[in-house]
Parts: sequence; structure tokens; C-alpha cells
Amino acid sequence: MTQKILQQGAEAVILLENNLITKDRIKKSYRIKELDEKIRKQRTKAEKKLLEKASKIINAPDPFPLKEFNKIKMPFIDGKKLSENLDSFSLEKQKEICKIIGKEIAKLHEADIIHGDLTTSNMILKNDLIFFIDFGLGYISRKIEDKAVDLHLLKQALEAKHFKNWKELLGAVEKGYKHYKESKKVLERLKAVEKRGRYK
Ligand SMILES: Nc1ncnc2c1ncn2[C@@H]1O[C@H](COP(=O)(O)OP(=O)(O)O)[C@@H](O)[C@H]1O
Ligand SMILES: [Mg+2]
Repeated sequence: MTQKILQQGAEAVILLENNLITKDRIKKSYRIKELDEKIRKQRTKAEKKLLEKASKIINAPDPFPLKEFNKIKMPFIDGKKLSENLDSFSLEKQKEICKIIGKEIAKLHEADIIHGDLTTSNMILKNDLIFFIDFGLGYISRKIEDKAVDLHLLKQALEAKHFKNWKELLGAVEKGYKHYKESKKVLERLKAVEKRGRYK
């Protein structure tokens, strides 16, 4: 099978070949070579580790072992990217999906995994399951604040991309998120984060 470029981003190129995805962190020629390699190596390693961890507890692609320092090889999730498809479903179905999203985030936060980029572009719907991808901005943290900010980013994404029903969708996410035993604290902090009008 031939290789297909799925996305050419600022940081990485996403290639599809034989039902496998390769995320290749590309060279940044404006950086000093040694520093550039160090950064790409660190980010790739961190993302790989988070994917390994996350894929044990939620639906996420489990990366294959690979020697190359700047690449992640993982299964291709052949489904529907949520950013492009969520709005096409009935509101009931959209809410169902968002409740599942909330439940999945609850599991990640229970394990102290902060995704870091919770947008519907990083979620794929396949057979009524939601797969989470792109842990490139993720990290491990126990802090309630970090978990609240994670949810805040999702709220902003819903508001921007799925604005017609975003309030109801957020409500459904929060409903699902209540499976996390510390959810009350996080949701309270989310309100405080928003009152403050900043989150860093
Ligand atoms: N494992 C995968 N299965 C299916 N599609 C993927 C997979 N990984 C990446 N993609 C596709 O490539 C796009 C970019 O990948 P992503 O990891 O989000 O990179 P970026 O950090 O550039 O956003 C995703 O939005 C998705 O469409
Ligand atoms: Mg992405």
C-alpha cells in the first residue's frame, strides 16, 4: 500500500501506510540542530509514554516500539473525526457522545493524566467508542487546577466549534465526568478558573 500524508502540521507530519499511522516530528531549521533534536526527542518520548499509559485505561492507540527518536508508530483509528461529525448527529446522540467523552476524561484524570489539548479534532468516533489521540501536549499531574484547565480547554473548543448546542454538550460532558471521585472539586475549580478569566 502506498503512503498517504494525512496531515502536515507545524510540529509533525502524519503518515498513513498499511493501516498504521506514523507521527513524525519534523526538523525545525530555525533551531540549533542539537537543541532541535533534543526537543523532538523529548516530546516524542513524552507523548509515547502517555499514549502507552492512556491506552491501558481508555480507547487510545497503543504505540509500537520504535527506535527512531522522532517518530511514533501506532494503529490507524479508522473512524470519524469528531470535529467534523459531531454536529451531524441528533442532539440526543451528540449528548450521548459527550457523556462518554466526560466519562473517558474522568478515567484519564483518575490516573492523573492531563491530555492538554482536549478538542474534538483529537477525538475519533469508531463503533460508538470514542478514541482519544494526540497526547503531544499532555503531562502527568495530580493538581485539581490542571484538571480544571484541561476541562476548560474542552469547554472553549465546544463553544468555538459546536456553538449551536455547546451548553447542553458541556452539561453532558460534566455528567459523564462525575464518575471521577474528585469531579466536584474539579468542576468547582473550573468555575473559579473562568471567573479569574485566565488559567495560567
Ligand atoms: N492513530 C490515528 N488514527 C487515525 N487518525 C489519526 C491518528 N493519529 C493522527 N491522526 C490524524 O492526524 C491528525 C493529526 O494528528 P495529531 O496527533 O492530532 O497531530 P497534531 O499534534 O499535529 O495535532 C488527527 O487530527 C487525525 O485526523
Ligand atoms: Mg491534534
